[in-house]
Amino acid sequence: MAPQRTLSDVPDFLQNSPFLPFDTDASSSDAAEIAHPKPTVAQIVRSKRLRTIIIALITFTALFILLGKFRTDHPFTRLGISGPKCYFTPPVTIPEVPPGEVDWTRFAYIQYATSDDYLCNSLMLFATLERLESRADRVLLYTANLLYSSTATRLLESARADYNVQLVLVEKQHKNDVHYVWADSYTKLLAFNQTQYERVIHLDSDSTLRENLDNLFFLPEAPIVLPKAYWLGKPKLGAHIMVLQPSDDIFGKIVKGIRGASRGTYDMEIVNKIFGTSCLLLPHQPYALLTGEFGSPDPEHKAFMGEDGDWDPEMVLEQAKFVHFSDYPFPKPWEETTAEQQEKAVPPCVDNYQGWKEDCRAREIWINLYKDFKERRWAVCSLDDSPLEG
Ligand SMILES: *[C@@H]1O[C@H](CO)[C@@H](O)[C@H](O)[C@H]1NC(C)=O
Repeated sequence: MAPQRTLSDVPDFLQNSPFLPFDTDASSSDAAEIAHPKPTVAQIVRSKRLRTIIIALITFTALFILLGKFRTDHPFTRLGISGPKCYFTPPVTIPEVPPGEVDWTRFAYIQYATSDDYLCNSLMLFATLERLESRADRVLLYTANLLYSSTATRLLESARADYNVQLVLVEKQHKNDVHYVWADSYTKLLAFNQTQYERVIHLDSDSTLRENLDNLFFLPEAPIVLPKAYWLGKPKLGAHIMVLQPSDDIFGKIVKGIRGASRGTYDMEIVNKIFGTSCLLLPHQPYALLTGEFGSPDPEHKAFMGEDGDWDPEMVLEQAKFVHFSDYPFPKPWEETTAEQQEKAVPPCVDNYQGWKEDCRAREIWINLYKDFKERRWAVCSLDDSPLEG
């Protein structure tokens, strides 16, 4: 059954349409008609008015079905007219690193940092790449304000000396009229300007990298490969992991996108707009897991699991190569938190797992992800010494 709808439900492009079944003159009755005698049933069946009503009803129903389809099927996005078309395509098949000689200087992991905290995150990521024996180049885009901080200059020097990172001074891409938390996030898009590389991987540094991603440099050609922003419930792509091909042409579009950005438009929105028809989809389960998923209120974790079987937090973590810290409004793992904030954010134990009384695996995984981050931060950057109390 079609639910009750009002004119405001109708998309803008259908408002005032001559095909709309709303009778705008319904209240004005025809005085001359009232004087007529009551029509017979036969007359009613043959009447023009009844036919009009039937046609209106059919149109009405068709319109509702169509509107429902628009809401669930996103036909314009599928066509690449509005939003990323690749959202509706199957994810790419993940390649192996090809055997034989590979010129790794064509590829790079790129990070950006505009503050001490994020510089430390990037350093941690480079340390992980070193430990995982990644072979591609490492590039850090940093902004001039960091040169006034003694901590930052120490970390920059460590990046260069300990992890073989190339330091590239860039101009901060900042906007004043947007939310301060993401005001610098446009700087990340400068990855598209590193045209000395054929392909680069950009990882948001407030994350834990669990495996070497070198094979992703051999994904099929595409200007960008991104995961679904699976947690949003609408067809958008996430930008916390990006496999991209830098190019002057695309960077030109990015620059325009940054210039035109206003409140609510950040790096992710710009990327979604630009790569509507040209993206490929990265499978989100191994490459785009959010820590928040472990505390999802949906016991089946449908948005994350899709059609791929049952949620099992241990299996999910085991398959995850990259985990992004995102438990908004819970602070990022290097920030101070109160016991109350922690209690609110820590995933609860759930009932009934294979005869156990309580299943606390998701909770423990979550706590360990935060704890591991804090410990590595201490080890790599020597900035923070208060690991999360379990
Ligand atoms: C993009 O790269 C070119 C060449 O390296 C450089 O001259 C230019 O300043 C860069 N643009 C931005 C906004 O960083």
